[in-house]
Amino acid sequence: MGLTIRPRRLRANEQLRKMVRETRMDKSSLIYPMFLVEGENIKEEIPSMKGQSRYSVDRMGEKLEELAEAGVMAVMFFGIPGKKDEIGSVAYAQDGVVQRAFAKARRDFPQMYLIGDVCLCEYTSHGHCGVLCGQDVDNDRTLELLAKTAVSQAQAGADMVAPSDMMDGRVAAIRAALDREGYAHTPIMSYAAKFASAFYGPFRVAAESAPAFGDRKTYQMDFHNRREAIKEALLDVREGADIVMVKPAMAYGDLIREIRERVDIPVAAYSVSGEYAMVQAAASAGYIDSERVMCEMEASAYRAGADIYITYFAQELAGCIDRGMIG
Ligand code: PBG
Repeated sequence: MGLTIRPRRLRANEQLRKMVRETRMDKSSLIYPMFLVEGENIKEEIPSMKGQSRYSVDRMGEKLEELAEAGVMAVMFFGIPGKKDEIGSVAYAQDGVVQRAFAKARRDFPQMYLIGDVCLCEYTSHGHCGVLCGQDVDNDRTLELLAKTAVSQAQAGADMVAPSDMMDGRVAAIRAALDREGYAHTPIMSYAAKFASAFYGPFRVAAESAPAFGDRKTYQMDFHNRREAIKEALLDVREGADIVMVKPAMAYGDLIREIRERVDIPVAAYSVSGEYAMVQAAASAGYIDSERVMCEMEASAYRAGADIYITYFAQELAGCIDRGMIG
């Protein structure tokens, strides 16, 4: 047999497979998204996301402790306010749920890196990501409110802000406001290529943020588009984004790769609620092994070029890394 090249030589055992592994992961680039709800003594399971809970500020420490124990040291906060209005005013209220969460987490968990999702959809009565003008969002008026939201989060103790609204010009508006208010060193992770996706369904149950009418297609991207995703990422870089994100992750690996090659800043991938819910549902039906699947999903994002992975499985993945299932 004249076979000179035998790829299987390097697959002979686990030690060798690990030595020649092309993609390496560690816990320091995992971010866990967390839902904070108004009220007291609340830890309630999210029906659409079995295994995930919404916490009131007084009980969020339980989860933060577990995360820290597992070695997940970065979280992203989403607030679910007690009252919503047309202009999402709790999003930028100094005593808003997320602002109080930042202040407390800052005190109780100084070593945790705290990121704020900046958007209005959880806070508006109509569920859209900006203020309305007729049936559409008023892009430019929304920018002011997003900037106020970002500043209020930084004031409350957020280390980083992550605008997810997809309005044009929001990164520039937020950068200018942060700089003006003395937060020139607060990084912006922009949801740069964020698609109008059915994969967000379970999140909208969790955050009570489904739009009351219409959809988000006038601001989130059309999933058929590749060039436009690059355009959005480059635009955000030009406006001052420090990290750009692709969202969802699993069905968008091509864009993670493409954007990774086109920008010189870190690229984050957000494995969204629908990805989480599908894995949980299939695993509870006994069809798949959830741990092995989540490991493959994580590796696929990094293999595609992601530097950071945002996932509801962060704690479980940290365990998989510890046990050598992935790494
Ligand atoms: C807010 C926001 C959404 C998600 C993150 N930020 C929902 C949406 O755009 O409808 C989705 C996250 C997920 O599905 O896990 N705009």
